[in-house]
Amino acid sequence: MKFSLESNQPTKSKADALILGIYSGESVKEVLHHLDAKIDKVFADQVENHLKTEGFKGKLHQFSSTASFGHLQSSRLIVLGLGEKVTPKNIRKAAAGLYRKLNGADNHESSYSLNIRPAKLQTSSVGKKKKAAAEKSTDTKYGEDEFLCALVEGWTLGSFNFDKYKTQNQNSGEDKKKKEKTPELKVSGLSLSAKDFATAVKKGKTLGDSTNLARTLIAEPAFYMTPTRLANEAKKVAKATGLTCTVMTEAQIEKLGMGALMGVARGADEPPRFIVLKYTAPKAKKQIAIVGKGITFDSGGLSLKTAVGMERMKYDMSGAAAVIGTMQVIGTLKPRVSVMGVIAATENMPSGKALHPGDVIQAMNGKTIEVNNTDAEGRLVLADALSYVCEEGVDEIIDLATLTGAIIHALGRVAAGVMGTSNELIKDLDKAAEEAGEKLWRLPLYEEFKPKLKSDIADLKNAGSGGEAGSCCAAMFLKEFVKPGIPWAHMDIAGVAWSDKESAEINKGGTGFGVRTLSRYILSR
Ligand code: BES
Ligand code: MN
Ligand code: ZN
Repeated sequence: MKFSLESNQPTKSKADALILGIYSGESVKEVLHHLDAKIDKVFADQVENHLKTEGFKGKLHQFSSTASFGHLQSSRLIVLGLGEKVTPKNIRKAAAGLYRKLNGADNHESSYSLNIRPAKLQTSSVGKKKKAAAEKSTDTKYGEDEFLCALVEGWTLGSFNFDKYKTQNQNSGEDKKKKEKTPELKVSGLSLSAKDFATAVKKGKTLGDSTNLARTLIAEPAFYMTPTRLANEAKKVAKATGLTCTVMTEAQIEKLGMGALMGVARGADEPPRFIVLKYTAPKAKKQIAIVGKGITFDSGGLSLKTAVGMERMKYDMSGAAAVIGTMQVIGTLKPRVSVMGVIAATENMPSGKALHPGDVIQAMNGKTIEVNNTDAEGRLVLADALSYVCEEGVDEIIDLATLTGAIIHALGRVAAGVMGTSNELIKDLDKAAEEAGEKLWRLPLYEEFKPKLKSDIADLKNAGSGGEAGSCCAAMFLKEFVKPGIPWAHMDIAGVAWSDKESAEINKGGTGFGVRTLSRYILSR
């Protein structure tokens, strides 16, 4: 998709269809008149009446279309509901929905002209009271560039699909043709310079594409997306964006003393990988580490999961996918801080060589762990990854992991749990998440949880018995591997990393949760 700046009046825009963004309560007739004072009045009236009969009210995601009967340069007029609030968030959602609507329809259009106005229309016919309300709903803290970025981001997110394994799509010429046309979206209604326009488009596209990259990595089945392939994907991103990438093999992981990662990897035929991506900013004031759980398949190990519990466990590398996606954003948009992206990748499989429940292993920071449940493997591989980044002397750590089923009980598929040692870091992450359209909800790390992790024969055990406060206990375990004094936040994304339904900017399958929050957080440092 090519995004370009439309300088013509929207009604004169040379495109197959003109799309007008309409906020709830706005009159399409008045918007048309506002955009082109010479618009045919009868036509504008007819459009307004047509939309009325269709029940179009400008609600978010509402969509309606009509022929332009020669009154516009384009042959079709589409109206798109932008909702009550004038925010980039709404634009992002509307754009994702719009893409799906346009692409799902059987049309031959290849160019669109879209008018967004980052302010509700205040026409003369709007009463004083209404005018005040309109002004209030116009959130002036957002710049036009943010609206454009959100538009491009939403559009890109809406365009995600993964059909690699569908033979129908590989062979049908019709679908191929549809895919090959590179449509153009001309955007009007903004007063951005060409340079600012290009910058905002690049940012939106990078955020969308990188989330889609994470989604693709998650969508790949475990037979394909092995730790080795995951490492190759990280290398590809590094090469394309100028990052450095070091991939440690079994022997090197062993040598570093990562007994916890090695322990989990013992049961698998596929070898583990420890992946380190680095972005170095010139004159950086600090280095942030982002750490991802990369279990490419979680069978539970000898503490075997049920068939239903195992069904989707290819998505247990969603934390790793978010790290790779975020590093692609970092490499492309080059923030002021340095960033280290670290992934502990392995399968968790049962076999004659697998960890026995009750085995004792030793993590890189020297602490010994009694593995009372081999299905609590995420915290084991993260123990080594967290020890590693502390050893590297990073200034701040954020980890992402599909760590506990308990977080799904607590927060459903709505919000990720966030826990950690720094109020400030969590507050800033929450702000970034809010802008990104992702939700975080903080859970506590009470000292009272700690006795749950007490082992009779080792420093710790990996799974607190009783199943109470599962997500908090898992985070308490992780805390043991973070050097005191380094601000640390842990995001449990088990609930939000996967979705069974499509809605707005979220697709079915792996969601790529975390890429947009982390990117925004890091870019704002
Ligand atoms: N990968 C799972 C957590 C998970 C569950 C993610 C459901 C997505 C959906 C993790 O490795 C796991 O198995 N956790 C156990 C921990 C328990 C044994 C203490 C769990 O949540 O049941
Ligand atoms: Mn598990
Ligand atoms: Zn797991």
